[in-house]
Amino acid sequence: MILAVGNIKGGVGKTTLAVNIAISRALAGHDVLLVDGDEQRTAITFTDLRTEQIGSPGYTVVSLHGASLRTQVRQLADKYNDIVIDVGGRDTGSLRAALTVAETLLIPVQPRSFDIWAVDQVADLVKEALEINELRAVAILNAADAQGHDNEEATRAISEVEGIEMLKILIGRRKAFPNAAATGRSVLEQNPKDVKAVAELNSLINAIYLKQIKSV
Ligand SMILES: Nc1ncnc2c1ncn2[C@@H]1O[C@H](COP(=O)(O)OP(=O)(O)OP(=O)(O)O)[C@@H](O)[C@H]1O
Ligand SMILES: [Mg+2]
Repeated sequence: MILAVGNIKGGVGKTTLAVNIAISRALAGHDVLLVDGDEQRTAITFTDLRTEQIGSPGYTVVSLHGASLRTQVRQLADKYNDIVIDVGGRDTGSLRAALTVAETLLIPVQPRSFDIWAVDQVADLVKEALEINELRAVAILNAADAQGHDNEEATRAISEVEGIEMLKILIGRRKAFPNAAATGRSVLEQNPKDVKAVAELNSLINAIYLKQIKSV
């Protein structure tokens, strides 16, 4: 499956979720290509660190942008079981290109108003892409606080956005994500593991790959 993890908003957890998903798929035995579609090259930097720390990263990583992201991903699609594309916050050219080749778009959203408003803009891009590509667009709350009404309110607001499927599950704000990344690892590979972070990641992966639609 070709999965794009994208949002026009920066700092929402795109790279964090993209690398954790890519590693999880690789650990499950799939041949995975991680596409870094961000000029900041964070996924590449992470993979360099991972290679230093544990040897082979377990997946292939490439940096692709704009029109070549689309053409290269199309060409590489037959060679991999899974392609995960991390598309940067500012580069809408690469995001648009990714939306024309991806089967699923995962939109991480933090439960704060600016982030929620950005979902409307992503929905416009999805609508445009739907004219040429049958795309499933799925939003998930990421780095959500454990308490307060923000999560419910954000979930309700995003559920109203046409063309976006809002997942009921969420990913909490958990130190395990930055801590694991700092050692070139996914939360699945930490020792000791944060069992809640692992459970949340696994639920997200099931929602994406098993197509168990948990919309509200
Ligand atoms: N669920 C989470 N819990 C705690 N911290 C998180 C979580 N998700 C992401 N972060 C942290 O938030 C910061 C931004 O995450 P990340 O770099 O993945 O976002 P991004 O959307 O890829 O940003 P950019 O737009 O700059 O590419 C990082 O420091 C990351 O470790
Ligand atoms: Mg990023």
